[in-house]
Amino acid sequence: MKYTTIQESMDIGTGEVSTRGWVYRERGSNKIKFIVLRDSTNIIQCVLKKDNFANNWDEIDGIQMETSIELEGTIKKDDRAPTGYEIDVKEYKIVGSSDSFPITKDQSPEFLLDNRHLWIRSRKMVSIMKIRSAYGQAREEFFKKEGFWRFDTPVLQPNQSEGGSTVFEVKYYKVKTYLAQTWQLYGEAAIFALEKVYNTGPTFRAEKSKTSRHLSEFWMVETEVAWWKLKEITEFAKKELKYCISKVAEELPEEFESLGRDPKELIAMCKKEWPTMKYREVLKILEEKDGMKVKFGKDLRTVEEETIMQHFDTPVVVTHYPQEVMAFYKPKDPDYPDEALCFDMLCPEVGIEIVGGSERSLDIKEMSENLKRDGENPDDYQFYFDLRKYGSVPHSGYGVGLERVIQWICKLDNIKDAIGFPRTMLRWTP
Ligand code: 4AD
Ligand code: MG
Repeated sequence: MKYTTIQESMDIGTGEVSTRGWVYRERGSNKIKFIVLRDSTNIIQCVLKKDNFANNWDEIDGIQMETSIELEGTIKKDDRAPTGYEIDVKEYKIVGSSDSFPITKDQSPEFLLDNRHLWIRSRKMVSIMKIRSAYGQAREEFFKKEGFWRFDTPVLQPNQSEGGSTVFEVKYYKVKTYLAQTWQLYGEAAIFALEKVYNTGPTFRAEKSKTSRHLSEFWMVETEVAWWKLKEITEFAKKELKYCISKVAEELPEEFESLGRDPKELIAMCKKEWPTMKYREVLKILEEKDGMKVKFGKDLRTVEEETIMQHFDTPVVVTHYPQEVMAFYKPKDPDYPDEALCFDMLCPEVGIEIVGGSERSLDIKEMSENLKRDGENPDDYQFYFDLRKYGSVPHSGYGVGLERVIQWICKLDNIKDAIGFPRTMLRWTP
């Protein structure tokens, strides 16, 4: 038997088809049973009439949500059906029965998270997961076109790199290691061999905050490039995001629409100029337009990021954050030593940081001091310092928070929906 998917069956549009999937909805009377069948491609209405199935009517009558079924029948256009087609079923086979599927209408978010292994079948999650997948495929294409090499690095690492307070410790034989907070330090080692490298990997932060934008395990798309400085790396980050976002918006318009996002708006946004400004300019705007006084010397807080982004309809790159609160590897700007040669990209609407990056310090002494300032032992970073000893070159890189981007472009209230099985401070099952 050759099965066509539901979408293929509708593309064929007339005649006999065989298809299979899961019962998405069902309703019936004592003469007729309507089943809306779903597969990964779409949904379709199927009709089973008692006249044709007098012997099996009890079984058909008992078919419940999420039963898996193979069926054969005649497909035809029907404007009353949810996707414009209907199959008049001639033969059917129940492959796996389903009894009282726990997910019914109007369940609480917590219930849906407890049943995430079942909830990922929902139309909403399917759309999000397709967009996420297509985004990953676009990203691979982009980096290949731009002449980058993919470089895989360890998840178990000997050091912290983005702040000791958020590392997860792992018992590793007789010693202690940490789950990767970033790929970066190894990406930096690789540029001396491959020059332009990237990767996407699971990234771990023991975030104590229970916000709608923080996960404990997330996927970061990271890039590191030899020779490039801040200006080149920030422009390249914009290019990457513009490419990937417009590509998925072009490929999956219906998925975006089902999530309440107009894909044409995303494509238009990617054609615009995305501004770059200094952190000090952000403080000025916050003061002049929003009456918010922020003292130079702190990272931007959520409320400040949200407020500044209300003035923009594209992402904005903010550079030159205060050096003293930045990660140890972010160098001072030689002309303005209280500022670091670093950047964040903030996105409109939700107003969250989606990208973080910088030039990398080449000064071992400066980095050792920063590490001591952060309570770390510089001796643990000898492998990293070696990179500055043997043919050091200027270089820069950045990391894109994949779930943050998906949350924003899919208009999701919570970052947890941007990943199949979220991990947060309060959630590590299923
Ligand atoms: O700004 P971050 O901490 O930068 C780095 O880790 C650099 N080492 C990256 C690099 O230069 N190669 O993290 C980068 C991005 C953030 O902008 C944010 O989008 C995302 O990762 N991110 C998180 N996403 C979800 N949950 C969390 N707890 C996140 N922490 C960071
Ligand atoms: Mg950051």
